[in-house]
Amino acid sequence: MAPTCSFSSNLSSFLILPHKTSTTHMLISLIHACILLSLLFADVSANLLLQTGIEDANVAEIDQCQYVLRDEAVMRLNELGKVSDADGYLERTFLSSASLRAAILIRQWMEDSGLKTWVDLMGNVHGRVEGMNATSKALLIGSHLDTVIDAGKFDGALGIVSALSALKVLKISGQLESLKHPVEVIAFSDEEGVRFQSTFLGSAAIAGVLPVSALQTSDKSGVTVQDVLNANSIGISEESLSGMKYDPDTVWGYVEVHIEQGPVLESVGLPLGAVKGIAGQSRLKVTIKGSQGHAGTVPMWMRRDPMAASAELIVLLESLCKQPEKFLSYDEECKGFSMESFASSLVCTVGEISTWPSASNVIPGEVAFTIDVRAMDDMGREAIIFEFSNRMHEICDKRSVSCNIDRKHDANAIACDDGLSAELKVAANAAMKKIAGDIIDEVPVLMSGAGHDAMAIAHLTKVGMLFVRCRGGISHSPAEHVSDDDVWAAGLAVLAFLQNKM
Ligand code: GLV
Ligand code: MN
Ligand code: MN
Repeated sequence: MAPTCSFSSNLSSFLILPHKTSTTHMLISLIHACILLSLLFADVSANLLLQTGIEDANVAEIDQCQYVLRDEAVMRLNELGKVSDADGYLERTFLSSASLRAAILIRQWMEDSGLKTWVDLMGNVHGRVEGMNATSKALLIGSHLDTVIDAGKFDGALGIVSALSALKVLKISGQLESLKHPVEVIAFSDEEGVRFQSTFLGSAAIAGVLPVSALQTSDKSGVTVQDVLNANSIGISEESLSGMKYDPDTVWGYVEVHIEQGPVLESVGLPLGAVKGIAGQSRLKVTIKGSQGHAGTVPMWMRRDPMAASAELIVLLESLCKQPEKFLSYDEECKGFSMESFASSLVCTVGEISTWPSASNVIPGEVAFTIDVRAMDDMGREAIIFEFSNRMHEICDKRSVSCNIDRKHDANAIACDDGLSAELKVAANAAMKKIAGDIIDEVPVLMSGAGHDAMAIAHLTKVGMLFVRCRGGISHSPAEHVSDDDVWAAGLAVLAFLQNKM
């Protein structure tokens, strides 16, 4: 039985409530690490400066901590942002040639941070340091190395680069080997799901929630996930896929730093925020078949046009998600759900449409489009999909076209761990205090409308996330931008977290 709750509104993220935190201890640790770096490692400083061609700088005056966490991190983000499969814009999909080049680069940076590295069966790149006790539970820190099409250079990359720069600071200051827990950075191979529409191929495999059927998913040219892995000399079988799952008893938790991809942090004037939870999402594909014909000869009343049907369905979806209360009702079965919080999170998008044979003088024979539905409430999301599907069949019957709807991906909403979030807020506060001097602001807490690898890893262990301010709230666009100082803030926060908790 499908649920019948109804919700409205379309904000992708919203401010919950700031909390006061104590930052003194973290601040002292941070200052300590940075002073150590400045005073004791002038030789390393000189090497780094020579590598980057800044020979004339006065090494004694350079804050190495700042150099690694900000300047070098920004250079790396720029470098990674140029690793693309396309000319003139950024595109890296699952195990594409650019993704493989990006993996090599990231692996080098992992080694530069003192980590032992490897690539797993799903193309995830790992870098690990055991610290003092290799058998204690490991902290995983990660984000993804793939991108959307015509992407920005911070989505995914910022989380990987900031983690590696924080670990590099610990290496330079001699603190890496005294970590109490192993720390493992993972650059996940597929979060965007652009190529196979499935998303989280890499992180879901590690969490043990990737179904074996995912290996047979095809991309547009009919190549399966398994084909792609084989072509890259990564033989994967059902058994080896299930063997990728990490033992939860060996994992302490998971932390992900990510650009906010929304406007809230910019609007409150702060570089960092903690994440409360991540909206659930479904991806679907609608395929409509009609009667292909001549654009000049078939009278309008005789047409079975899948393009016109698609237009009606897309507008229907928009109306459903803008004003679901006009379409749905809910009853006591929905008790426990907050209309207000659900209403503020529901968003629906048609981002891709294809038509056959795609010529201006041909009535198409077939049209297919994608649907992306997200909401904080999983039952409400199901209700929207159910309602859309029912109305779709009515419209298709009326138009005498055949319609099919395929579910490509589902991920339920997740909550970040309260304790981990509190620790990340302490770390974020310390980072902001270091950068802004005496100005102490509280760390905001946000909901995420965007999906993250943390959603898959939440099936394995507790997760926490930090968001980083981005200009204009823009993401999934080449206009995506994070200021150099905010990249610094992200690295400082990871460093503070590692020093405090690990
Ligand atoms: C990933 O960026 C997603 O939320 O689609
Ligand atoms: Mn993205
Ligand atoms: Mn992302």
